[in-house]
Amino acid sequence: MSAQLEKDLSWESSMLGILYRQLFVSRKPLTNHISLNGQTALVTGSNGGLGLEASRQLLQHGLSRLIMAVRSQASGDGAAEMLRKEFPDVHIQVWLLDMADYESIHAFTKRYQGLGRVDYTILNAAMQSSNFEHHAKTGHELVFQVNYISTVLLCMLLAPILKDTTYTGVTVKPPVLSIVGSDTMYFSKFSSAGLVFPRMDNPGSYERMTQYMDSKLLLMIFINRLAQQIDPDDVIINVCNPGMVAGTGLGRNGSPNPGFAEKYLVPLFVKALGRSVQSGASVYVHALLDEGKKGHGSFISDWGIKPYPRLLYISEGQELSDRLWQETIEELKPELGEVRAMYS
Ligand SMILES: NC(=O)c1ccc[n+]([C@@H]2O[C@H](COP(=O)([O-])OP(=O)(O)OC[C@H]3O[C@@H](n4cnc5c(N)ncnc54)[C@H](OP(=O)(O)O)[C@@H]3O)[C@@H](O)[C@H]2O)c1
Repeated sequence: MSAQLEKDLSWESSMLGILYRQLFVSRKPLTNHISLNGQTALVTGSNGGLGLEASRQLLQHGLSRLIMAVRSQASGDGAAEMLRKEFPDVHIQVWLLDMADYESIHAFTKRYQGLGRVDYTILNAAMQSSNFEHHAKTGHELVFQVNYISTVLLCMLLAPILKDTTYTGVTVKPPVLSIVGSDTMYFSKFSSAGLVFPRMDNPGSYERMTQYMDSKLLLMIFINRLAQQIDPDDVIINVCNPGMVAGTGLGRNGSPNPGFAEKYLVPLFVKALGRSVQSGASVYVHALLDEGKKGHGSFISDWGIKPYPRLLYISEGQELSDRLWQETIEELKPELGEVRAMYS
């Protein structure tokens, strides 16, 4: 559906458009009263921020089993304990998943395979950082590694598992895999020319917001392509966006000597315009429960389907998408193993 929304792109991607929706577009109730009784959801990065709140909202809809996938056992246990107090009858588990560690991703995937049907999966874990850091094993810049490379790897590993378990559960609806993106991708100036990976790993051009926006842009481009290879009758896959939200941990990892803008202006801007965590997380729930197959491969934001970034409507963008796909598959070949054959 995002493919048909190019006409809305200039408004959605304008500063005025963003200001308008941050200030005036508010949470819509789900179109149907939905009970998630008997269903399972898994949320990555659910020890805090939007992931925790999205988990809570799924539980409020009657979810029976929740898996909280986190990188710190203590922090996950603390969050789970809080939810268990609110929802004592629900089966809540904490699983370890470090998105910066391929071994952890594989161990997690193996465990996921044993879950049976997972109705809703949200890949929410991501980061920002003011400091350029190479990943010790892969050599890639860490934000690019976590937000893009590892996230698309996990997506490619989970989609076939979800496909195989589609009709064995309590409902015949396809499972939904939602990946958390960001509308900041509209402001990315990532050029369509040249190899992607070396540019994302370049310390010379590194800047906190640029790297974050670019990583989310690449995520959207890749997921758009991946979704074309997945039948929405098997698995529905979409990218959702909470909008700018105040009060989460995303602003961590600041520079040791922050300038005036980083120290005062950005936090003030986020505080003044940011949505509540409850409101932002409700977009995740909307993306899982309300858009269905028409949202497959689309960008879901502000409780509706929104346009792709500009590059996905022009031929140079298609070339970038081809190159990104090839570079990513080449990079992840050893990690994908047999699953590689499922993607062309
Ligand atoms: N806040 C916003 O304005 C906004 C706007 C648009 C999109 N988003 C997106 O919303 C999602 C949630 O962000 P948030 O605002 O809720 O920020 P947050 O509070 O910092 O949550 C991020 C989560 O990701 C986890 N995470 C980071 N690196 C990880 C790794 N290597 N392995 C496993 N988990 C890792 C964090 O775990 P730890 O606590 O252990 O670090 C945390 O649970 C992100 O995808 C973000 O890009 C946020």
